[in-house]
Amino acid sequence: MIKPITAIVLSALFSTVSGLATAQDLASFHAGMGGCTACHGTNAVTAANVPDDEIDLNNKCMACHGDYKKLADKTKHFDPHASHLSDRSPINCTACHTAHAKPKLVCNDCHTFDLKMPFSDAPESAKWDATIDDEAVAAAEKSAPRETVDVLVIGAGSAGLNAAIAAKRAGAKVVLLEKHSFAGGNSMLAAGGYNAVGTPQQAKKGIKDTVDQYVKDTMKGGRGKNDPKLVQILAEGSADGVKWLEDMGADLSDVKRSGGAAVDRTHRPHGGMSVGPHIVDVLRAQATKEGVGARVNSRAVKLLLDKDYKIAGAIVHGKHSGYYKIAAKAVVLATGGYGQNKQMIAFYRPTFKDMTSSNNVTSTGDGITMALNIGASMTDIDWVQAHPTVGLDSRILISETVRGVGAVMVNINGERFVNELTTRDRASDAILHQPQKRAWLVFDSNLYKSAKMVQGYDHLGMLKKADTLAELAKICDMDAKTLEKTASDYNKFRKAGKDEAFGRPDMPLGIEKAPFYAVAVAPGIHHTMGGVAITPESEVLDIQSRPIPGLYAAGEVTGGVHGFNRLGGNAIADTVVFGRRSGEHAAAYALKAK
Ligand code: FUM
Repeated sequence: MIKPITAIVLSALFSTVSGLATAQDLASFHAGMGGCTACHGTNAVTAANVPDDEIDLNNKCMACHGDYKKLADKTKHFDPHASHLSDRSPINCTACHTAHAKPKLVCNDCHTFDLKMPFSDAPESAKWDATIDDEAVAAAEKSAPRETVDVLVIGAGSAGLNAAIAAKRAGAKVVLLEKHSFAGGNSMLAAGGYNAVGTPQQAKKGIKDTVDQYVKDTMKGGRGKNDPKLVQILAEGSADGVKWLEDMGADLSDVKRSGGAAVDRTHRPHGGMSVGPHIVDVLRAQATKEGVGARVNSRAVKLLLDKDYKIAGAIVHGKHSGYYKIAAKAVVLATGGYGQNKQMIAFYRPTFKDMTSSNNVTSTGDGITMALNIGASMTDIDWVQAHPTVGLDSRILISETVRGVGAVMVNINGERFVNELTTRDRASDAILHQPQKRAWLVFDSNLYKSAKMVQGYDHLGMLKKADTLAELAKICDMDAKTLEKTASDYNKFRKAGKDEAFGRPDMPLGIEKAPFYAVAVAPGIHHTMGGVAITPESEVLDIQSRPIPGLYAAGEVTGGVHGFNRLGGNAIADTVVFGRRSGEHAAAYALKAK
């Protein structure tokens, strides 16, 4: 189990105002400070008068309490305000703090923190989007659209943010919807990097790579089941995608190897930082700057077609505003995969039904369901990837980067059993054939110092640490002699430049310098490769393989790019290359249809 961070009371943030002990919830606490209108303005305060994006409310919180940096500076301990929240693209205060109900520590969607939040004794509110009200949907469908746009983008992960920015830059009127309380989706959890070929970063390191090699690796990783046209577009557009992000301020200066790649092509921020939170932060800020910031707490529930079977918009369920219609000439589905939808996993991939998942809670396959309901065609829908190294008994991904930069993988006896840099399907399969179906990643202090994300796992209490390998083996209940021999053999292979045991192609670090570390891992659902079938222009196909006019899709909601198995670093590449592409094509279609 992950060790909970020591309980911390954040009440220090409220210490200047009396009444905390007696107020039942945040709203009652503020009652003496101007009443409802202090936060809600002079309009009659009804749920429908609160915009779903809650941005005004957020600004009001910050006007009194200061921004996240200021809040974080007040506490010396671990503070969520200083963690994933950024000055560049702040997440609404209301993502966690709820005026009339129990607050929600949204970090616990992925982590396990034992933080006591102010007003946590307030009554819990019902989940606003737990169900879909069919009658309300039907009523909204009959009523006039609340707004009319050129391009409606559904889902504000990397694919949706890229699509929205691209469509806006092409001159379209765009709305970007996000059902969660903040934008980022599953992309926010992407750790490894962004695969790209032909970048200045590769040139600087003297890496010889080609589009053909990228295509070859991706097709081989996908067991040849990928759509070669989509893979070609992915590889050809990858370097320009890096530049597109860099022009917005992203740092993708570091290049490393991911499993299944013949060369180093996985681009990521310097110092081994995770790629996902960084690029989402950059994209969120850029989208806001360009006027297409995500409308959060807004879940699309139904796609609409006109009498000619062309896309006409969608029905949206807003947290405060209820069900309403948006008329749109084109819709981009960027809703992600279904790794967190237990029913869909049990249906499409029953053997994985009890497996943990590294995915964000947002990955519930909404786009796939909506597309199926209007007759869209699916590709490889039952292909689900298990990532070999999800922290044991947790949902936290131990990035492939950790193996890429040097960790070895051993079974519970301390023996290596696989080329650590093989593709994920093969590595997962190898673990599932080991005793107790789990493994340890073992590495030394050189690796610990070089990879920031590893220090993050330490912060979460996931690492075992010892001054000698024998001691480490003892803590981890492995055989000491076996682990020592494994490390010494590996170090010899590394010096000789050839892994005699498993043919690992790249051994950047040895297991040499104390202290030594280990982290327990097991396979977990990581990526759903299948989804809506698309053309190279990102148009969604119907069951007779004809494009559904006006419907586009990008990212994990689609199938075909990754075949039966996705390579590490290709998800972010997919979201950027096809996100942009879907936005551009949707805008061109919508503007022509005007
Ligand atoms: O292991 C990882 O860092 C995952 C990367 C990816 O899914 O592309």
